[in-house]
Amino acid sequence: MDLNFNRRLSVAPMLDYTDRHERYFLRLLSRHTLLYSEMITANALLHADPHRFLRHDTFEHPLAIQLGGSDPKMLATCAKMAEDTGFCEVNLNCGCPSDRVQSGAFGACLMKEKQCVGECVSAMQAVVKIPVTVKTRIGIDHDDSWEFFFDFVKYVADAGCDTFIIHARKAWLKGLSPKENREKPPLNYDFVYRLKKEMPHLNISLNGGVRTMDLVESLLTQVDGVMVGREPYENPWFLADADVRIFGMPSVAPPTRKALLECFLPYMERELAAGCPLNIMTRHLFGLFNGFAGARRYRQILSDEAPRTGSGIETVKRAMDAVEEPL
Ligand SMILES: Cc1cc2nc3c(=O)[nH]c(=O)nc-3n(C[C@H](O)[C@H](O)[C@H](O)COP(=O)(O)O)c2cc1C
Repeated sequence: MDLNFNRRLSVAPMLDYTDRHERYFLRLLSRHTLLYSEMITANALLHADPHRFLRHDTFEHPLAIQLGGSDPKMLATCAKMAEDTGFCEVNLNCGCPSDRVQSGAFGACLMKEKQCVGECVSAMQAVVKIPVTVKTRIGIDHDDSWEFFFDFVKYVADAGCDTFIIHARKAWLKGLSPKENREKPPLNYDFVYRLKKEMPHLNISLNGGVRTMDLVESLLTQVDGVMVGREPYENPWFLADADVRIFGMPSVAPPTRKALLECFLPYMERELAAGCPLNIMTRHLFGLFNGFAGARRYRQILSDEAPRTGSGIETVKRAMDAVEEPL
């Protein structure tokens, strides 16, 4: 599998969003887009229930796992577990600014610990064959110069990492919430273009603020890949064009949003039968009909009724019937 092909478009790791249900759902829309897991901390993977975190359906492939941590040995063990369970890439989170992550000394604060990141990457690469990649920001706090950013990437690249995903804004570690850190620091795509120009041998994906396929296409003239997060979550239909426009391949997307939901029903039925509550899956479906007549009623039925004990597929069908989708 040529992951660099899939990397032309990827869906970002998003805690609480990109769980296995969301990934299965998005895969019904695009065969080739690379999907990422939520961030899984090395601690959780090693000390809690690994099956819970590593579990996925082969249908979700191509699928990467994102790890959070800063202990090379622990990360290496986790990377091996991920490879053994079928993930096709291990990504290290060097971009998340939340307090919880900072107290564990990983995430964005690792931008100040390039040696540690280099050691983590080498330790993981020593035990797996799948690519080990890094997702990072363009800076943190007052360390936001081109020199700081370039020095970090170069150091980690020299340690063996050849694939970087750059969230093109810096993170403020104190004073901004994780949500604000995804919105307030301004986007600076120029740093990412420049990185690709100065280190053309690296595979560089740009992330941050991409909301249209037109923009994805135009960014791909400057970088190797584009990672999208909130747009495909809030508006999953965004991915319906991806296989044709980004990968030059036939589309697997069903012809309408309702047809898409119909395709997801058998999966939900299987999961319900295995004990998964309906609302754990339907929470990912709220944005599907945005802008259509009846979309509000659709969301209301899902949010009011899906959490009720015993709610089943009938609830989803009733919600769907509330929407008028032009053919
Ligand atoms: C709800 C949510 C959870 C996120 N969780 C993670 C995470 O676990 N790991 C990570 O590297 N980034 C995380 N991010 C950041 C995204 O991966 C991405 O970098 C960011 O949303 C910018 O891309 P976008 O503008 O396309 O959404 C999260 C973002 C959101 C909205």
